[in-house]
Amino acid sequence: MSKSYHIVTYGCQMNVHESEKLAGILRANGYTEESGAPEEADIVVFNTCCIRENAENHAMGNIGALKKIKRARPDMLIAVGGCMMQQEGAAQRLRKKFPFVDIVFGTHNLDDFGALLTRKAAQKKAVVEVPAHEGSVCEEDFSFRTSYPNAWVNIMYGCNNFCSYCIVPYVRGRERSRDPEHILREVQGLLAKGYREITLLGQNVNSYAPADGTSFPQLLRRICEGQGKFRLRFMTSNPKDFGEELIAALADLPQVCNLVHLPVQAGSDRILKLMNRHYTAREYLEKVELLRKRVPGCEVSTDIMVGFPSETEEDFRRTLELVKAADFSSAFTFVYSRRSGTRAAEMEGQIPEEVQKERIMRLVELVNAQTREKSRKYLGKTVEILCEDHDEKRGLYLGRDEYGRMGYFKSTADPVGRFVKIKVEDASGISLYGSIVQESGENK
Ligand code: 5AD
Ligand code: SF4
Repeated sequence: MSKSYHIVTYGCQMNVHESEKLAGILRANGYTEESGAPEEADIVVFNTCCIRENAENHAMGNIGALKKIKRARPDMLIAVGGCMMQQEGAAQRLRKKFPFVDIVFGTHNLDDFGALLTRKAAQKKAVVEVPAHEGSVCEEDFSFRTSYPNAWVNIMYGCNNFCSYCIVPYVRGRERSRDPEHILREVQGLLAKGYREITLLGQNVNSYAPADGTSFPQLLRRICEGQGKFRLRFMTSNPKDFGEELIAALADLPQVCNLVHLPVQAGSDRILKLMNRHYTAREYLEKVELLRKRVPGCEVSTDIMVGFPSETEEDFRRTLELVKAADFSSAFTFVYSRRSGTRAAEMEGQIPEEVQKERIMRLVELVNAQTREKSRKYLGKTVEILCEDHDEKRGLYLGRDEYGRMGYFKSTADPVGRFVKIKVEDASGISLYGSIVQESGENK
């Protein structure tokens, strides 16, 4: 009888992609069906995140909710792994709170999940394995992808930046870059299978540094060389390392989308310094200006945080000013969350929750107004959408434009996996609605 699995993913794109790897490993180990609900699955895997407290609380709540089901079905396996488990002492705390969890693993041994499954099958006792140090970079692509025509490709792991608020360097370890030849082979394989949008992933892609000395802009050039039409995206770029060589690659390579995700975090130089970001607001804006000059039409999206320790009303106003000056096309906004073990957690002047809430509301209002304004400019224009899916309920096909805006349209043929040009008739929020003016074909 076939066995089913259910994976619950928290956090960033890197985690979403790593859950694809876990799905691939599960499939290689006899779990062939994806179960719609965790209650029905033979194994439930939680791939956790610890970047903010919210993410941890969510995961703990959902793991706890399986206690009753596990009691009724003791053969069901429960595995918990990823960033949250990689924190010091986290595995022990989890086991104490939820002794029914069968497998615990970290970020450094995700690729060994198959071996942990085998070990669990041979013993009654839980398998708890969270290696303290990163192993070598895994070059195998075990991924079971369900994101056609989009695919994520890891180019590097870890982070060396130690921004003072951030837990990532502690749970993901030091930077390790994949060999460019392996990345090229993976991308070429995906393109040959019909994937049309590739997103390169790394915590800071600008510090990509494999043994052969290939730089990140060189990697982009090698990936695009001799290829037909497809879209290439990357995330995330740290502004401190974002420079002319990358801007030149963006200008030269038609496949690279004209959207750069460049997290600014704050607009006050004093706060940026405390955050250990290594740039000022002016330097950030100059980079954005240079990018827009060399790559006309290029859009910038960002991450912004409010309520960092000691942030004053004046500091926060500078963030609002920067948002206006940078004219972001979209922004992910966050309330600072105190992460134990980071330098910011020990700083004076932690900001009360009411103040953080009031600031995030003001920020979100501004960001939304700018996003709506930008979308409105699309009315009457023709945009190219890579069709991703069909929304049965609404009877509409959907996909994204180069800038990540969702486009909805009707079609009699099935255009999933193809580029389609639509004329925008309605633009609300970040979604565009239109009708097809031309199907661009699969690879033209
Ligand atoms: N609190 C709130 N937001 C955070 N981020 C990283 N660490 C924290 C934290 N401790 C945000 C940053 C980063 C994004 C991925 O998450 O804005 O760019
Ligand atoms: Fe965290 Fe900074 Fe590294 Fe990004 S660059 S993962 S914010 S430490």
